[in-house]
Amino acid sequence: MGSVDIPRESWATRAGFILAAVGSAVGLGNIWRFPFQVGQEGGAAFLAMYLLFIVAVGFPAMLVEFVVGRYTNRNPVGALKQLGSGVWQYVGWIFIATGFIILSYYSVVAGWTIRYFILGLQNEYLADPEASGGQFLELASGLDAIFFHALFMAIVVAVVAAGIKRGIELAVKVMVPAIIVITVGMAIYAFTLPGAGEAYSYYLSPDFGVIAENWTSILPAAAGQAFFTLSLGMGAMITYASYLDEDRNLAEDGAIIVGFDTSIAFIVGLVVFPILFTAGVDPGDPGAGAIFISLAAAFGDIQFGWLIGAIFFGTVAIAALSSAISLLEVVVSYLIDEKGIDRKVAAVGIGGGLFLLGIPSAWDLVLLDLFDLFADQILLVFGGLMLAILVGWVVSEIALEELSKGIGPLGSYGTVWIWLIRIPVIVVLVVALALGVVEYVDFLTGTEEGQFGWWLEENL
Ligand code: PHE
Repeated sequence: MGSVDIPRESWATRAGFILAAVGSAVGLGNIWRFPFQVGQEGGAAFLAMYLLFIVAVGFPAMLVEFVVGRYTNRNPVGALKQLGSGVWQYVGWIFIATGFIILSYYSVVAGWTIRYFILGLQNEYLADPEASGGQFLELASGLDAIFFHALFMAIVVAVVAAGIKRGIELAVKVMVPAIIVITVGMAIYAFTLPGAGEAYSYYLSPDFGVIAENWTSILPAAAGQAFFTLSLGMGAMITYASYLDEDRNLAEDGAIIVGFDTSIAFIVGLVVFPILFTAGVDPGDPGAGAIFISLAAAFGDIQFGWLIGAIFFGTVAIAALSSAISLLEVVVSYLIDEKGIDRKVAAVGIGGGLFLLGIPSAWDLVLLDLFDLFADQILLVFGGLMLAILVGWVVSEIALEELSKGIGPLGSYGTVWIWLIRIPVIVVLVVALALGVVEYVDFLTGTEEGQFGWWLEENL
């Protein structure tokens, strides 16, 4: 199976790569997934573990993907084929499948954000949290959700079909500053709420006893969330770095990307929890509905809330778009590079398949969890582990040499990076993966409300 030799595209501007990578990282992972994970995993204990993961595992793992992408200038499958021997190409295929699975339900959640944007324009946010919760359940599943999932998917396909320079860079330039301004503004509003004090102590002062007691569920959740939010473990960052044709300082770029991503998630927490505490809602309860229920209730409560809400959810939809683009780009770049398929044909065909695969998630929240947990806690962590093994143990010389381009001699930093990947990162990921599998089996067989076993009993 030879690859087809066609000229590859590259980023139009220096800032293009950083912007696109930030655009990929910042998305529903920060704004939708992060707060509900914090809520379900007990607050500050999760936040502490998550931050540790970002710094000690996420950042080195991001450099791994950058190096692989820039060195090979290939899509993930081609890149792994070139670096490893035959078996590694199967890992590349898992990446493609992972991107496909994630995007299928990602698009459903993104569809909700479009729906909530419109809800603002209709001035229909409900101030009562309970009513807002009911409204979410109505909008999140069923024909409504399928329609907005289709709409979002169509937009993603259109941007990706237009190609790297014209499509992605343009979309991202507007979005990153907008997100920051709006979330910071909302955090200031949340600060004035009566529940803010209680919320801050829940969110910010970790009880290490809680970590010790619940680490078997916090660890895989933190690992999955770190990989998801940084777009790691499925080749998105490999693909983006593969379009780099100059030697930039990848460590610096990586630090900027991780910094933006983590700050935005952190600030979103400062918005969501004061609202939930003020409304008297247990932060663990709303699950996937957390931001929709809590923020919509806040928007329903304040003056001009409809407008601020429309702006907020509109911006989140754009953030989701720039992430979804990178997910689709992984699959499409594979078809272009390895199969010689035309970009437009690939984007449209894959988009159609994604629409179909997303229907179950748009039909029932439990099925969305079924996809989401599998992708985060298993597939992404597995992908990250495989790349750590490849770069740490198989091609470490090449990786060090590639990283030093644009930086200069790495000295002991290079040694620290490689040894961090070789042992601690790999060990932590193996443990996280094993625990993630146990948790997933528990979800599959569990008969508590919201678990898949329960869903089967209810629906069969
Ligand atoms: N990082 C994106 C987000 O936080 C999701 C994503 C995951 C994108 C994996 C690409 C690859 O929303």
